[in-house]
Amino acid sequence: MGYKVVVVGATGNVGREMLNILAERQFPVDEIAVLASRRSLGTEVSFGDTTLKTQDLATFDFTGWDMALFAVGSAATKDYAPKAAAVGCIVIDNSSLYRYDPLIPLVVPEVNPEAVEQYKNKNIIANPNCSTAQMVVALKPLHDRAKIKRVVVSTYQSVSGAGKEGMDELWDQTKAVYNPTDDVKVNKFQKQIAFNVIPHIDVFLEDGSTKEEWKMVAETKKIVDTKIKVTATCVRVPVFVGHSESINIEFEEFIDEDEVRDILREAPGIMVVDKREDGGYTTPIECVGDFATFISRIRQDSTIDNGINLWCVSDNLRKGAALNAVQIAETLGKRVLKKG
Ligand SMILES: NC(=O)c1ccc[n+]([C@@H]2O[C@H](COP(=O)([O-])OP(=O)(O)OC[C@H]3O[C@@H](n4cnc5c(N)ncnc54)[C@H](OP(=O)(O)O)[C@@H]3O)[C@@H](O)[C@H]2O)c1
Repeated sequence: MGYKVVVVGATGNVGREMLNILAERQFPVDEIAVLASRRSLGTEVSFGDTTLKTQDLATFDFTGWDMALFAVGSAATKDYAPKAAAVGCIVIDNSSLYRYDPLIPLVVPEVNPEAVEQYKNKNIIANPNCSTAQMVVALKPLHDRAKIKRVVVSTYQSVSGAGKEGMDELWDQTKAVYNPTDDVKVNKFQKQIAFNVIPHIDVFLEDGSTKEEWKMVAETKKIVDTKIKVTATCVRVPVFVGHSESINIEFEEFIDEDEVRDILREAPGIMVVDKREDGGYTTPIECVGDFATFISRIRQDSTIDNGINLWCVSDNLRKGAALNAVQIAETLGKRVLKKG
């Protein structure tokens, strides 16, 4: 006996990837429903070897379904996730709506799998921001060994993090740059993204940081340790898929770069690619479609007592969203629901 699973937002970047990953990892699915807005009613999406027709979220009845993997943005989540949760269908949500609610667990299975058990509070589990997810997978095993005091992170985030419209905008602008009769239209992003970088993701906050940067701070504290100080600069780059991060970590205790490399080699969800030669590191293009978070460029930061620098790359649609959501479903299955 497996699970009755609903994928909400099945026509989107994350939703399609959730379907791929459920099939790839042979999640025990007895029955599956795929939902999107009325606009996409009847649109076909792939699930393994089968093709499914999209139903309308607005009229779907979640009664009798075990879990719903939501990837529709905060507004639609606010309208429909409580309806699913109220009839006993456990929601695993990709939006930012519930991440900071103290009663709702925010889970990265390699880091805090035990937190899934708090799903009982509201029948909802939150998935972190894409940039946070890949970073905490790398931080946790190092924190366990040498206690992290402070993290300085700069991100290089791909356009797929802004949904299918973000990918279309990079594609359209890139073509327009080469065609002198076309205007380079700016719509989804704040400035031209093709052949450019934009140091601005999500809205500005009063202190001059952006909401995306605040999310990395708040989520790292909730998932790993409230005592860790994080300062972030989040930047959009003209890459279709795969987020990169330059991470500087200050520890309480000394830890040397070889030990960091050894710890990360053994850590769940991590692949170390770190040769000090041309091409001996991972770039976003190479991580697309992969489950792992790749760590390269591990080196001592000699400007502080206990400092390490590293480079962290992952497929934002996978570890940053869809894979993490499916891993939460697997963890929930193993620890609590025990079907399949
Ligand atoms: N992309 C990432 O790296 C990433 C990472 C972490 C979290 N997330 C979060 O995951 C969610 C989905 O992101 P995405 O990148 O997959 O976006 P996307 O590619 O734009 O897809 C959005 C999906 O939501 C559906 N949708 C939108 N409004 C709806 C409504 N009112 N009712 C029903 N369905 C609706 C769309 O259906 P239609 O086709 O019918 O419009 C589509 O299936 C967002 O909350 C995002 O913040 C994304």
